Amino acid sequence: MRKVKKVVLAYSGGLDTSAMLLWLKENYGCEVICFTADVGQGEELESLRDKALRSGASRIYVEDLREEFVREFIWTAVKANAIYEGVYLLGTALARPLIAKRQLEIARKEGADAVAHGATGKGNDQVRFELTYYALEPNIRVIAPWREWNFKGRADLIEYCKKNGVCVKASVEKPYSIDRNLMHVSFEGGILEDVWAEPPEDMFILTKSPEKASDTPQEIVISFEKGEPVAIDGEGYGAVDLLAKLNFIGGEHGIGRVDLVENRFVGIKSRGVYETPGVTILHVAHRALESIVMDREVMHLRDSLSVKFSELVYYGFWFSPEFEILRQMVEQTQQTVTGDVRLRLYKGNVIVLGRRSPYSLYKERIATFEDDKGAYNQADAEGFIKLQALRLRLRNTE
Ligand code: ARG
Repeated sequence: MRKVKKVVLAYSGGLDTSAMLLWLKENYGCEVICFTADVGQGEELESLRDKALRSGASRIYVEDLREEFVREFIWTAVKANAIYEGVYLLGTALARPLIAKRQLEIARKEGADAVAHGATGKGNDQVRFELTYYALEPNIRVIAPWREWNFKGRADLIEYCKKNGVCVKASVEKPYSIDRNLMHVSFEGGILEDVWAEPPEDMFILTKSPEKASDTPQEIVISFEKGEPVAIDGEGYGAVDLLAKLNFIGGEHGIGRVDLVENRFVGIKSRGVYETPGVTILHVAHRALESIVMDREVMHLRDSLSVKFSELVYYGFWFSPEFEILRQMVEQTQQTVTGDVRLRLYKGNVIVLGRRSPYSLYKERIATFEDDKGAYNQADAEGFIKLQALRLRLRNTE
C-alpha cells in the first residue's frame, strides 16, 4: 500500500476525532492537518486550535462555512421541497458534501495525499463524505479509521486518549449520538434504539415541547425571492441570520420535531429524532407561496422528482450528474416564487393564513363562486368530462 505522508482530518474535537488524530500519526506515521468546519453547531471552536496542536496536529484550519451552507445547500433543499421518506428534512445530509468539498480544497493547498473523517462504517455519513471526495478528487486516498482500527467503543477511545495524554471530557457513556448544525439537531442511539420508547423531553435542544410552548400564537410574514427566504415581517436578513431567527421563533413554539425510523443507504433501518424549527416553517411557507405561482403540471412533475432529489441528497450524491440536472430543474421552477406568506405559529403548528405574489396565477375572477361575468364557461366542462370518460365507458360497454 502507498505510504501516506500528509492527511487532512475532518476534526470536531470530540472523542472520536481526537483519538483519530493520535491514531493516524501512530499508525500511518504521517503528518496530520486538522480541519474544523463551522456549520453552526453552536460550539466554541477557537479552543480547538490549541487542543489539536497539543494533540500533535501540525496545523488546524477552523473555517466558518455557515453562509455557504445556508445559501447553497439548505436553500436549495427548501426550493426543492426535499424531505426524505416524507419526514426527515436532511439537516445532516446537506452539510456533509460542503464539509468534504472544503476539506479537499485544504488538502490540495497543503499538498496532502489523503483525507480522513470520523464517520463510522455503519452510517450514511461515511458514504456522503467519500462520494464527495471521489467525485471532486478521483485519486484521493481516503482513510476511515472507524473501519480500520480495533477500538470497539467509547471506553476504548477514552483509554487510548488518556494513555496519550489527551484529555477528553466525561468518561460516562454519552446518551445519544448527536449531530448539530445551523439547520437541525439529530439524535440517534441510546434509549432511542427502542423504537417504541418515547424520546425523553430533556433530550431536546432547540425546541420547547408543544405543551410547554408559548400560549400566545405568533403571526409572522416571510418574504421569498426566487424561492429563497429574504425577509421576516418586512425586515431583510442575511441567510444565516434569517435562519437563526426562525430557529429561535420556531423553537419557542415547539415547531419542527420529528421522530422516524429511516432507511439508511447501507441497508440498516435506524431510528432518528430531529429538531428542525426554522426550516420546518420555511417548508410550509414555501409551499404555500408555490401554490399560487406555480403551474399545475410543473408542480406535479417537480413533486414527483422531489422524492428522487431527497434520495440523492440522503445517499450522498450531491456532486453527481443526475443531481446537477435536478438542481437546474429546481432552479428553473423557482424563478417566479417571489412573494409573501403570512403564518401563525402555535404549539407545534405552522398555520398558513395568507399568501400573495406579483406572479400569482390565482385569479379570483375565475375561481369565484359568484357571477364570473363570463370568464369561465361552465358548459365547456361537459365535453371535457365526456371525453375524459370515454375510455372508462368503453370498459363497460358491450
Ligand atoms: N440519520 C441522519 C442522516 O443520516 C443523521 C445522522 C447523524 N449523524 C450522526 N453522526 N449522529 O442524515
